[in-house]
Amino acid sequence: MRKILKFPKDFLWGSSISAYQVEGGIENNDFSKFFPAKKACNHYFLYEKDFSLLKKFNQNAFRFSIEWSRIEPEEGKFSQKEIDHYRKVILALKERKIKVMVTLHHFTNPLWLKKINWWEDEKIVFYFSRFASFVFSHYKDLVDFWITINEPLVYASLSYLKGRWPPFKKSLFSFLKVIKNQIQAHKKIYKEFHQLKNDVKVGIAKNNQFFEPYLKNSFLDQLSVKLADYFWNEFFLNRIKNYLDFIGLNYYFHQKIKFPFKIKNENKLVSDLGWEIYPQGIYFVLKKLKKYQKPIYITENGVADQKDVLREKFIKDHLFWIHKAIQEKVPVKGYFYWSLLDNFEWDQGFKARFGLFEVDYQTFKRTPRKSAFFYQKICKNNFLEI
Ligand code: BGC
Repeated sequence: MRKILKFPKDFLWGSSISAYQVEGGIENNDFSKFFPAKKACNHYFLYEKDFSLLKKFNQNAFRFSIEWSRIEPEEGKFSQKEIDHYRKVILALKERKIKVMVTLHHFTNPLWLKKINWWEDEKIVFYFSRFASFVFSHYKDLVDFWITINEPLVYASLSYLKGRWPPFKKSLFSFLKVIKNQIQAHKKIYKEFHQLKNDVKVGIAKNNQFFEPYLKNSFLDQLSVKLADYFWNEFFLNRIKNYLDFIGLNYYFHQKIKFPFKIKNENKLVSDLGWEIYPQGIYFVLKKLKKYQKPIYITENGVADQKDVLREKFIKDHLFWIHKAIQEKVPVKGYFYWSLLDNFEWDQGFKARFGLFEVDYQTFKRTPRKSAFFYQKICKNNFLEI
């Protein structure tokens, strides 16, 4: 028998992007020299069309980031042209009655930050919060949700510990300094925004993962899971929990851990990037977030799947587990699929295809995948049929 899983009234149904991954023409940030995104999806010029697609596909919320290197191309010099551009972007969403969620830091930094050693020096707290306040002063009455930093630990670890992203450091000390600065910056921005507007909503987009012991009965594997859980999932949130109006959850990973920190996944089903697909993990991660007693938005969840053979089931299964968490009183208020469009996947380039819409990188034509129609129906109905 078919079953209808209803979502709460006023649930947000949307998708997410970030500036560097879709806009095109950004050449003034730390990624651009090493991982050029070139014209990307040309979204900078096609945003109106993209938002019409959102509307047509029944989405009522959208998450995107404002590129710092556009707004402040030189230290202390703010670009009126780009402020006007993002105002038009936000207004184009509002005209379509789409809720606006803005991310202020989605991995990229203007090149001039090199002079203060990027995120390692505590001066970053001043510079980043100055940029944030400047943006806020222009759009505070237009934006529904602010996210200060996207996946702080992913950024800190890939850029400062694993050396995969600029500035390609491999230092535990640098990694820890960056996290400390991220925490300070988040708190400062939270306080400043709240001083200027009582009912502002400020949060974070946190990548949390579901960790399990490789051997259920192994004390050491269990210990590794406890440590991973604490440091990856909890530490950052614990430090900012009094400075959060909501929690944004980016869920992609389930990891089976063998002592000390070996990943031993079974990988029965993987995406085009080789990432294990494990929908029930989102349920366990959400259950753990309940203790913070904050509204939760799934700010990212998606799959690289060029042929679109996994996406429909991926969305369905994750929503099934999210629904179960909601039934058990976890306050999930919205779901943003990653991503609206195929886009530039950082050091992996253009090969990963996360989009509900396929993008032709020559003509910039958008073509809905079959799964886009599947998601459209859910967004329209506010229920999932299983
Ligand atoms: C990031 C996105 C990225 C996605 C898929 C998240 O970690 O916020 O920018 O494209 O995962 O890898």
